[in-house]
Amino acid sequence: MSNILTQSATPLTLSDIPPELDLEAEILRLKKEMNAVILAHYYQDGDIQDIADFIGDSLDLSRKAANTDADVIIFCGVKFMAEVAKILSPQKTVLLPDLNAGCSLEDSCQPAAFKAFREAHPDHIALTYINCSAEVKALSDIIVTSSNAEAIIRQIPEDQPILFSPDKYLGGYLSKVTGREMLLWDGTCIVHEQFSERELVKLKTRHPNAHIIAHPECPEALLNYADFIGSTSRLLYFVTQHDGDEIIVLTEPGILHQMQKAAPAATLITVPGMNKGGCVSCNNCPYMKLNTVEKLYLCMANRRPELALDEATRLQAEISLRRMLEMSP
Ligand code: 13P
Ligand code: SF4
Repeated sequence: MSNILTQSATPLTLSDIPPELDLEAEILRLKKEMNAVILAHYYQDGDIQDIADFIGDSLDLSRKAANTDADVIIFCGVKFMAEVAKILSPQKTVLLPDLNAGCSLEDSCQPAAFKAFREAHPDHIALTYINCSAEVKALSDIIVTSSNAEAIIRQIPEDQPILFSPDKYLGGYLSKVTGREMLLWDGTCIVHEQFSERELVKLKTRHPNAHIIAHPECPEALLNYADFIGSTSRLLYFVTQHDGDEIIVLTEPGILHQMQKAAPAATLITVPGMNKGGCVSCNNCPYMKLNTVEKLYLCMANRRPELALDEATRLQAEISLRRMLEMSP
């Protein structure tokens, strides 16, 4: 395929993609031409994960974005993750397949309301989950991910009161494991909060020997059934250590692609959502799933959408993010 599809003045749209185009080959060609790196989160569709140069959890992806020597970072994840890449690598061009790929946790925590929350508790340190906007990061003291939050909390002096935002379930879980009382923002992940406890109990009865593993964004009622709780990368590691076993997985099913590759003999069982009496696809993140291979190709061919950030916000957000990187084990 010729380069006419590259950088045309009018952006190409889905209907401009010829059906015979070898999308994967074009993506690889454009990647070389642009000196780009493709980063993908575990919740992306398997075909995107297979094209990506690097797949990881939020912490892995932040580190990768901070250290890459590529000129362009193509971020297949959600917008706050692409923002992290831009905050840590401001000199790079950061492209994402769909600018509308948001996050319910980010939506729950608007900067003005978060600022008021902080001002109402001036003696508290603001520990904020990475699933938030650049503006909220700029108003925070330390950013955490589900991989490093526990270790970071343990480094904060016992007498220092903590605000934890925006995920109340992750915050509640961390309070329990660290014994630290924290004031929690009232936000939730719409994916992890909707797994059906009833369906989980049925699965557990049908598969009595299965391990139950869960992401800490799940509500406590679900976490109480879990044999193992961890970030996406830790859940993946657990599965690699239990190849051949039955495993009930309480997180977004995009990660099953890597789990099954890493543990081909494992039986992985997903848990339906409670919506509409057990909707099987409600456990897919609607934001993550906005990205497709076609949109990945288009963002490379069009060199847009490009992530842009106000420089004052970026600089301020970089402080809390760098603190996270320094405090991460
Ligand atoms: P981790 O991959 O860091 O565990 O985060 C999960 C998540 O919800 C990303 O949006
Ligand atoms: Fe946000 Fe939940 Fe989707 Fe992650 S899975 S991007 S936390 S809505």
